[in-house]
Amino acid sequence: METITKSILDPVTIHGRSLANRLVVAPMTRWSATDAGVPTDEMADYYAAFARGGFGMIITEGTYTDDLFSRSDGNQPGMVTDEHLEGWKQVVSRVHESGALIISQLMHGGALSQFSDDTIAPSAVQPLGVRTPERNGPTGPFPMPREMTANDFEGVKQGYVQAALLAVKAGFDGVEIHAANGYLFDQFITPHTNLRTDAYGGNARNRLRFLMEVYAALKAVVPSTFIVGIRVSESKVNDLTYRWPGGPDTAREIFSVLAEISPDYLHIAAEGGRWDREALYPDGSSSTGIAKSLLTSPVIANGGMHDVQLAKSLLNSGQADLVSIGRAAIANPDWPRRIAEGKPVVPFFKELIKPSLTLAHTKRVLTKYQAPCEVV
Ligand SMILES: Cc1cc2nc3c(=O)[nH]c(=O)nc-3n(C[C@H](O)[C@H](O)[C@H](O)COP(=O)(O)O)c2cc1C
Repeated sequence: METITKSILDPVTIHGRSLANRLVVAPMTRWSATDAGVPTDEMADYYAAFARGGFGMIITEGTYTDDLFSRSDGNQPGMVTDEHLEGWKQVVSRVHESGALIISQLMHGGALSQFSDDTIAPSAVQPLGVRTPERNGPTGPFPMPREMTANDFEGVKQGYVQAALLAVKAGFDGVEIHAANGYLFDQFITPHTNLRTDAYGGNARNRLRFLMEVYAALKAVVPSTFIVGIRVSESKVNDLTYRWPGGPDTAREIFSVLAEISPDYLHIAAEGGRWDREALYPDGSSSTGIAKSLLTSPVIANGGMHDVQLAKSLLNSGQADLVSIGRAAIANPDWPRRIAEGKPVVPFFKELIKPSLTLAHTKRVLTKYQAPCEVV
């Protein structure tokens, strides 16, 4: 009997919405909104290039949700004001011209702010590591955050609800709650940054409680066809080798709880760019595979998925339904088209994201290295 193998280029459905293929642009902070967090025309060009290049779905860079404590970077875009809304409308309509779906990643930085010295977190635990000097904000150690009070919980939740409603107005196909990479919701999930003794600390259910409450609050206000996904990870921007203390057992605990809300998709990040180091366990199981076995939601794997054989093997071994591509998409905004047509791809190199991450910069660098790209 012929075995049918899945391809990264096969169409797929998320929450009843059709995607042309299983290739998703991973969320990537670009530090190129205005000082007031307004998306620019240049950003619309940047996102439109991925859509023209054949990606089925694009997840935006992490976007802040309130003017209280959510903002984590200078020149990070927001989803708070009417000006933000107007800026995003341009981005969304340019992406939709080529038929891709676009999801807004809604992000609260919690203790990990490159922008403010006044931060909140589940507990007063100073983050590991230091701030990145390239972000044009304060440098040195991260400040000690203040433990969140009941008012802070409400402020964060309302910020997410209002931001999701603005995303609906802007025409987005959905939002992704950023609960990965060491930011606010990940600070709740991770035992050593969550020392709470109330209903939000302790076992996995308690550590996920706030994320699940925010998910439910969003689902209650957005249209039924609007996608609400969740992104989680083990590794963190300030702790790239972090793994959950119980390995696959912790993964099973976390995903069994998340299975109860069955998010429209679950995106499992590998911030360091290595699924094999950040999602695979010594017993051969993986966080993405465990998620797939416990949830009915589509699972998006990440971390080096521009290795086509790896991506294909995850789809065919039941360890993912889609893959998200970060750095390779910057070097090749038309990565899906190149793969479909058997054309060579440009390797990612750091100059592509320094000092900025605009399409004009990508074009300059690719031209300099004589690797022009039709869609930029
Ligand atoms: C420049 C840059 C910015 C990033 N910004 C975000 C972000 O805003 N939100 C997020 O969840 N992950 C962010 N990431 C992580 C990526 O989404 C992805 O997990 C990582 O690049 C690994 O995937 P890759 O191997 O395909 O590059 C960023 C990565 C890069 C390189």
